[in-house]
Amino acid sequence: MTPRVLSTGMAVPLRRMSNHDLAQTLDTSDEWIYSHTGIRYRYIAAEGENTSDLAVRACQQALTRSGKTADDVDLILLATGSPDYPGFPSSASLVQDKLGCQYAGAMDLVAACSGFVYALETARSFLISGAAHLVLVVGAEVFSRIVDWSDRSTCVLFGDGAGAVLVGMDDQLPTDSFRPSLLSSDGSGALALTSRTAISPFVHMEGRRVYNFAVQVMKDLIPSILEKNFLTVNDIQWIVPHQANFRIIEATAKRLDIPIEKFYTNIEEYANTSGASIPLALAEMDHKGLLVRGAWVLTIGFGAGLTAGANLFRW
Ligand code: ACO
Repeated sequence: MTPRVLSTGMAVPLRRMSNHDLAQTLDTSDEWIYSHTGIRYRYIAAEGENTSDLAVRACQQALTRSGKTADDVDLILLATGSPDYPGFPSSASLVQDKLGCQYAGAMDLVAACSGFVYALETARSFLISGAAHLVLVVGAEVFSRIVDWSDRSTCVLFGDGAGAVLVGMDDQLPTDSFRPSLLSSDGSGALALTSRTAISPFVHMEGRRVYNFAVQVMKDLIPSILEKNFLTVNDIQWIVPHQANFRIIEATAKRLDIPIEKFYTNIEEYANTSGASIPLALAEMDHKGLLVRGAWVLTIGFGAGLTAGANLFRW
C-alpha cells in the first residue's frame, strides 16, 4: 500500500483581469509585467467570495472525480495565507461544514507559497501512520483582498484561486511510491515577505531578495530530493513548481541544465496564486491528461517564512 493522489479539482473566480485592465488604473504595462514575470492574466474574487468558497468548489470537483463522498473524508488540510477570518476560526472548518464532511477533522496550514507542499507531506504522514484514510489537501487564496491595489510592485503579481487533491492509500503502485518530502524554513528572512504587520495591512515583499532565495532553493532542492531517492531528472515526468515568476523557473532550468519543457507552467493565465498554485497546476494537468499514472512527479514550493519544500511521488 502507498499514499497516492486519487483525484484533483480546481476553481477560479469568474472575473479574469488582464495586464491591460490593470494598466488602466496603475502606472504599469502589459510589456513590463509579462517581460518581468510571464503573467498576462489573473482571476479576481467577487465581493463576498472567500477563500473557503473557492476551496469548496475545488474539493467538490476532486470528490466527484474520485467517486468518493463527503462522508469518506477523515481529514481536510487547507494551505492558505489569506483565510476568511484572520486568526480563527480556520477556513478549513468552514470548508468541512460547506462540504458536509461530518466525520472529518480540519485545519489550516500556514507556510505561504510552500503551504501545499507542507500540507501534502502532512497528508502522506497521516495516511502512513493510519491516523487518516482519505485526506482532502487544498490550497486556496484570495490575495486580491490582502494586496495594496495602488502598489504596482506587488498587486500585479497575484491572483485568486484554489486547487485540491484527494489523497488515499492505493494497492496498485509499488509501496514506496510517495517518498518523504523535503521541507525547510529560514525564519531569519521572515520580514522579506509579510502580510498584515503593524507597519502595513497589505502584502509587503522585498522582491529581489525573494527572487534570489527562490532560485537558490529551487537549485538546491531539486537535485537534493532526487539524490536522496536514487533518481535522476530523467526519471521524472514533470516538475511542478510554485508559479511565482516565469523567470525564476527559467533561471532554475538553466542552472540545473534541465529542459524548460519539463517544468509545468501556467503563470501566464493565473499569476501567482500562492498556496493554490501547485494544486491548481496539478489539477489542470490532470484534467488535460498530461499526467501518466505511475510516472514520477516532483513538486517544489517556496515563499514567505522563508519556507521551501519538495514532494516526490508517482502519479
Ligand atoms: N510596472 C512597471 N514598473 C514596475 C512595476 C510594474 N508593475 N513594478 C516595479 N516596477 C519598477 C520599479 O519601480 C523599478 O523602477 P526603478 O528602477 O525606477 O526604481 C523597476 O521596475 C525595477 O523594479 P524591481 O523590483 O527591481 O524589478 P525586478 O526585476 O526585481 O522584478 C519582481 C520584480 C517581479 C517582483 C521580482 O523581484 C520577483 O519575481 N521576485 C520574487 C517574487 C516571488 O517569488 N514571490 C514568491 C513568493 S510569494 C508568497 O510567498 C506570498
